Amino acid sequence: MMKKYKMLFWLLLSMLALVGCGSRRHVEKENTTNVPSEGIDSNSVVVGFSQLGAESDWRNANTESMKEAFYARHGYSLVFKDGQQKQSNQITAVRTFIQQDVDYIVLAPVTETGWDSVLQEARDADIPVILVDRLVDVSDESLYQCWVGSDFELEAKKVCEWLNQYAIANGIAPGDLHIVDLQGTLGSTAQIGRSRGLYEAAMENGWDIVDAAEADFTQARGREVMASMLRAHDNINVVYCENDNEAIGAIKALEAAGYTVGSDILNGEVMVLSFDGINKDALDYARQGKIACIGECNPMHGERVASMIEQLEKGETINKLNYVDERIFSALSDVTDITVDGEKYSVTSP
Ligand code: AHR
Repeated sequence: MMKKYKMLFWLLLSMLALVGCGSRRHVEKENTTNVPSEGIDSNSVVVGFSQLGAESDWRNANTESMKEAFYARHGYSLVFKDGQQKQSNQITAVRTFIQQDVDYIVLAPVTETGWDSVLQEARDADIPVILVDRLVDVSDESLYQCWVGSDFELEAKKVCEWLNQYAIANGIAPGDLHIVDLQGTLGSTAQIGRSRGLYEAAMENGWDIVDAAEADFTQARGREVMASMLRAHDNINVVYCENDNEAIGAIKALEAAGYTVGSDILNGEVMVLSFDGINKDALDYARQGKIACIGECNPMHGERVASMIEQLEKGETINKLNYVDERIFSALSDVTDITVDGEKYSVTSP
């Protein structure tokens, strides 16, 4: 008889525990996990942010923007994890967030592929995933809620159209543009869009693409890759860098090898083109004309992501893909505006 009462007691207790888990998603995170809670305020909306790394000034500005938006926001807590450029670290971070039962996962994915399983795990745990900056290539797009970031291919089209107009204005024949591409992290949305934009413009205009290699969006790799390209080719006159940190590295390599960096291609100068417009040194180079043109890439996504989450908290629907507006910078007066896909963009001084 006693045994029967004991069994009934345990049955009731486990049923109560189950009811509790289902209805208090926002308040009992520590109880649902064996992972340290890292100071999570269990009464707040908890956001786990998996940043891909700290490879560039753009990335650091993006991290700061996210931290500022969430640390200052009443009722929100941010759990930050740096993936150090490795997708495996980011996958581990997302799994940790799932174990911690955060309310939202924000992911800045290093590359596009390889996310299906872990995003399915987040879906199974009923945690919405918001992508920031780069995109993922998944078989089921409903695995993420929404995305905010740049149109990287449009950035590339703008810089390439600037180069096209510059060449026309200065009487430079398309076949005399000998371009090398210092690519970003291969397989990342930023690299895919910027490389594609260049190759399409080269095909359309008849430019010569001399070489392309991954420089990983870093200054150190930019310098190394540029130095090795200079050893392999003697006709490079345009260096298309897929971000400003690579451009700074490339300029250092060019100058160390005795080249003059500038826009006077017909008189032997080597032109550098770039993306971002957030690094102070790169902007100074642009003011001096050492970087001829920069396609802006805006990293300030913190408030954008936070307001998306606020909308989701209110049960509002938001657009799946959210592109930010971006400018194009050049200190040279040869091209004042460009038109891409029927849209006119003024060239702004850096
Ligand atoms: O995905 C955005 C790109 O990544 C930025 O252009 C670059 O600087 C960063 O590392």
